Amino acid sequence: LDNGLGRTPPMGWNSWNHFQCSIDEKLIRETADSMVSTSLSSLGYKYINIDDCWGESNRDSQGNLVPKASTFPSGIKSLADYVHGKGLKLGIYSDAGTQTCSKTMPGSLGHEEQDANTFASWEVDYLKYDNCNNQNVNLKGRYKNMSQALLKSGRSIFFSLCEWGQEDPATWAGSVGNSWRTTGDIEDSWDSMTSRADLNDIWASYAGPGGWNDPDMLEVGNGGMTIEEYRSHFSIWALAKAPLLIGCDVRFMSNETLAILSNSEVIAVNQDKLGVQGKKVKSNGNLEVWAGPLSGGKVAVVLWNRGSSQASITVDFADIGLNSSSVVGARDLWKHSTTSAKGKLTATTASHASKMYVLTPK
Ligand code: DGJ
Repeated sequence: LDNGLGRTPPMGWNSWNHFQCSIDEKLIRETADSMVSTSLSSLGYKYINIDDCWGESNRDSQGNLVPKASTFPSGIKSLADYVHGKGLKLGIYSDAGTQTCSKTMPGSLGHEEQDANTFASWEVDYLKYDNCNNQNVNLKGRYKNMSQALLKSGRSIFFSLCEWGQEDPATWAGSVGNSWRTTGDIEDSWDSMTSRADLNDIWASYAGPGGWNDPDMLEVGNGGMTIEEYRSHFSIWALAKAPLLIGCDVRFMSNETLAILSNSEVIAVNQDKLGVQGKKVKSNGNLEVWAGPLSGGKVAVVLWNRGSSQASITVDFADIGLNSSSVVGARDLWKHSTTSAKGKLTATTASHASKMYVLTPK
C-alpha cells in the first residue's frame, strides 16, 4: 500500500502468541520498557502491538469502541503516549466482522470510518485486522473499506491484513495493506513453523517495499521448539522478508532467546532496502537451499536441514543468481565469521538447524 509505511518489513512485538487474552495495560508498559532495556528497540523492533481482547464487549452510546475498564483503565491514548515517549510505536487490533475472534469485543464491520478515526485520535500507528464473524460479506470489500478509512483518517497507520490467506491476498492486497497473512495461525511447534514457511513461500514474487507476505508472528522464546529450530525459524522469516513480530514474553526472556532475536546481521537481511523475498531455490529430500538477492549485488542464503540427522548441504552459485565460477566472501551470520568460496558452498548442518550466509562477490 502506497501510504509511505512498510518500506521494509515491520518489526516489533505482539501480545497474541504468548498471552492470548490475558493482557492489560501494565503488560504493555512493561513490554515497552523491556524492548528498550534489552536494546531490541534500537535494533529496529519498534511496534508494540496489542492483539485481541483489549475492548469492552459493547460500544458506547455514540457507537465508539471503548477500552476495557478493568484491564485498560487509562485508555489506549495514554498507552500510545507512553510508548511514543520511548521512541516506540503502538499497534492495535480489530476485526472485519461483527465481533473479534475471541468474541469478547465488537469488530469494525460497518463502523470502519468511525473506528479508523478513533484509532487515529488515539495516535495508533498500526492496525491488525482479523477476519472472524464476517457474516459472509465480500472479503476484499471488507478489507478495502478499512484501508480507505485509515487513509482518510489523517494519520499514517500501517495496515496488516489478517485474512489467513483465504483469498490469495498476495494477488490483490498490495494496494490495500502493508502486509497480509498467507497462512492460518502459527503454533509453537516445528511442524507448524515449517508448514507456514512453505505456504508463504509460493507468494514470494508478490512481496516488496510497501507490502509483505506474512507467515504469522514469531514463536521464538515460547518454549515449544529447540534453540536450533528457533534459529531456523528466525533465519527463514528474515530471509522471506516476513514481519519480525516477537511473540514471547520479553520481560522474562532467556539469554539464548534474546541472542536469536538480537542477531543484527540476520535482521539486516530482513531489512535490506532491495526488499526482495528470498525463497526455496532447491531441495534434496529434507535438505533445502533458500536464497534471495540483497542490495549491492549480495546474496543471502540459508542452508536448512529439515531431516532427522546431521547432513551436509551444498549451494551451487549457479542456482542463486551468481556465476558458477564466482569467488565470494561468505559471511556466516550465526558464527559471525567470513570465509572465501568459489562456485559453491558446503556446510555440515545438524538436524533441524540451518546455516545462514551473506555472499559478497569479489
Ligand atoms: C486469529 C489471528 O490469526 C491471530 O493472530 C489472533 O489475532 C487471533 N485471531 C485473536 O483472536
